[in-house]
Amino acid sequence: MIEVEGLHFSRSDGSVQTPILQNLNLSVASGVNLALLGDSGSGKTTLLHILAGLLSPECGSVVINGQQLTQLNDAELALYRRKIGLIFQHYQLLECLTVKQNILFQQQLNFPGQTPENFEQLVEQLGLANKLNALPTRLSGGEQQRVGIARALINKPQIILADEPTGNLDQARSHQVVQLLIDLCKEQGINLVMVTHSQQLTEYFDQVKVLANGCFE
Ligand SMILES: Nc1ncnc2c1ncn2[C@@H]1O[C@H](COP(=O)(O)OP(=O)(O)O)[C@@H](O)[C@H]1O
Ligand SMILES: [Mg+2]
Repeated sequence: MIEVEGLHFSRSDGSVQTPILQNLNLSVASGVNLALLGDSGSGKTTLLHILAGLLSPECGSVVINGQQLTQLNDAELALYRRKIGLIFQHYQLLECLTVKQNILFQQQLNFPGQTPENFEQLVEQLGLANKLNALPTRLSGGEQQRVGIARALINKPQIILADEPTGNLDQARSHQVVQLLIDLCKEQGINLVMVTHSQQLTEYFDQVKVLANGCFE
């Protein structure tokens, strides 16, 4: 469950304060998925980073599954971030690691020595079982993004934040990747917030919000 109320965020460039998000309100019930649209520079990535606990709002309330993020100290925020799965437009895979190592890398950082029991099912569901020893450079864009999805889901996050995950994919692959992401999040009761430029892709989502001038339209 995501509950944002009266959120303000500004960037300061020397002495100049530029408002990015202004008096933003958002409510996403548990297990519900949200598509986030808006022109370039409208603040979509900034909002995802606030929800991920990577940026702090100037004022306002951000409550994720009952936790008020603005009240967490650094150690608590670090623990909170373990419950978040991030997916990026450019995949952000480590090129010197195999598919399997990429999927497990973050998991091992967060939970050293623990073997995730969902690994085999996840790689099967994402069609990666026969690619586990390949390096990312040998994969298509769609396959690389499926590795990105596996890496985000391996830690069983409460929320997935995906920043234009289909921005580098053709239309057919975009639909496949979004369908997979939606199905996996629904199956596991995960809140999905996905930034996209594609009006077509919004049809897969329960909720659609458009950011303009720092507010929702
Ligand atoms: N690190 C930064 N420092 C200063 N300004 C930034 C930074 N990141 C983003 N901005 C500015 O914040 C605004 C919103 O950016 P962003 O959230 O990345 O938008 P979007 O993801 O919708 O394209 C833009 O005007 C952008 O230039
Ligand atoms: Mg962005």
